[in-house]
Amino acid sequence: MPGIVLIGAQWGDEGKGKATDLIGTKVDYVARFNGGNNAGHTVVVGDETYALHLLPSGVVNPHVTPVIGNGVVVDPEVLFEEIDGLESRGVDCSRLKVSESAQVIAPYHRVIDKVTERFLGKHKIGTTGRGIGPAYADKINRVGIRVHDLFDAERLRDKVEASLHQKNQMLVKLYNRRPIDVDETTDELLKLGERLKPYVANTSLLLNNALDEGKTVLFEGGQATMLDVDHGTYPFVTSSNPTAGGACTGTGVGPTKIDRVIGVAKAYVTRVGEGPFPTELNDDSGEWLRTQGHEFGVTTGRPRRCGWFDAVVTRYATQVNGLTDIVLTKLDVLTGLNEIPICVAYDVDNGDGTHTRYEDMPVDQAAFAKATPVYETMPGWTEDISTVHKFEDLPANTQAYVKRLEEISNCRISAIGTGPQRDHIIEVRSLVD
Ligand code: GDP
Ligand code: IMO
Ligand code: MG
Repeated sequence: MPGIVLIGAQWGDEGKGKATDLIGTKVDYVARFNGGNNAGHTVVVGDETYALHLLPSGVVNPHVTPVIGNGVVVDPEVLFEEIDGLESRGVDCSRLKVSESAQVIAPYHRVIDKVTERFLGKHKIGTTGRGIGPAYADKINRVGIRVHDLFDAERLRDKVEASLHQKNQMLVKLYNRRPIDVDETTDELLKLGERLKPYVANTSLLLNNALDEGKTVLFEGGQATMLDVDHGTYPFVTSSNPTAGGACTGTGVGPTKIDRVIGVAKAYVTRVGEGPFPTELNDDSGEWLRTQGHEFGVTTGRPRRCGWFDAVVTRYATQVNGLTDIVLTKLDVLTGLNEIPICVAYDVDNGDGTHTRYEDMPVDQAAFAKATPVYETMPGWTEDISTVHKFEDLPANTQAYVKRLEEISNCRISAIGTGPQRDHIIEVRSLVD
């Protein structure tokens, strides 16, 4: 079972870091394929908690080769901070491979991310402010800087000049800011390139060779299905493809090499930033979920918006990613509720006296923004489930809740998270073989 893709099935923060770590003990490579340091993936090993942003979560497993694929946007400053932080805690990062064609987040991308958000005012996206959108925009506009550009001073200066030519006009004339200096920026990037060089590799070739030799590669997504620039709640999305297809374009590995697609979904839903969220709870229940689930962002510390499980979203994730398995996380957080609502469909008021019931994701974002959840309710449980390791040993109501989620998500649930630690897991079936 060599090629496994692991992605977020909701709006992010589903516990992908923990799921990757779980599988990571059985794989040879973990490759990030999209996004950048907008991600915040938590891995808990014993008493140690690691918050990873740019590095693949597999880095904490000593036998895993972590890879940053071409689809990722790399902020070298942040990468080195992360490497230094981990190495000071005894995690060896020397095995890291970074794609020579990954895009670079330059200091000006961060500046533009922040001023654009401010300029958008009430239309803002609520980005992480890490320069992600502007870096991807440059990639698509063909004025981006790629990792291998950092090793050629003349070429780099030329590219920085081309990129800043238009940006400086915008910064000065539109945003009333100072222009950014081409030479200073080039020198800064060249210095970062020197340190980056030993990690840089032809990662597409590396991963394809590994797969041909029968090695196991886990493709780890940042963000999630509903934040996908094509399939998510546009425009309230990130600027990459966190869905399964992104694993191929973002690493240079063909779809015929992918054997399994694992979606990570929380037993409820959270979202950070702006944008529609049908099951959002702006009441005591939402506050309860946030407190019980410690729902605060790993990257920005922002409180996460919380809501009940949305089966329309998970069914959609099954559809657009071709999920073979779901890892259901944070089931333990629901312990103590009398009843648990599950959203099974949406009701949309058409504004002319008629209503439409949606079992599937509405394509029209205006309809999605107006969607009211249609709930069915399951009985809750009060027993502590964090020490349970077999599905059959879960309380009957917990089993019934999981089985119902499985049924309405159109995908089998193959593992269940019962707490943040490595061993807080019920493996219903192997995720690797
Ligand atoms: P990611 O971005 O998808 O990797 O998820 P985050 O790390 O941003 O957020 C998930 C949070 O939930 C982290 O604090 C994890 O330690 C924690 N977590 C993961 N799985 C479980 C679980 O099954 N139960 C509980 N209680 N916490 C979990
Ligand atoms: P992980 O990998 C949750 C959200 C931001 C914002 C939108 C666009 O930890 O699940 P961006 O900075 O990417 O341009 O912001 O996307 N966002 C995330 N939300 N988890 C993430 O990553 C996210 N990465 C970006 O809050 O709404
Ligand atoms: Mg996260």
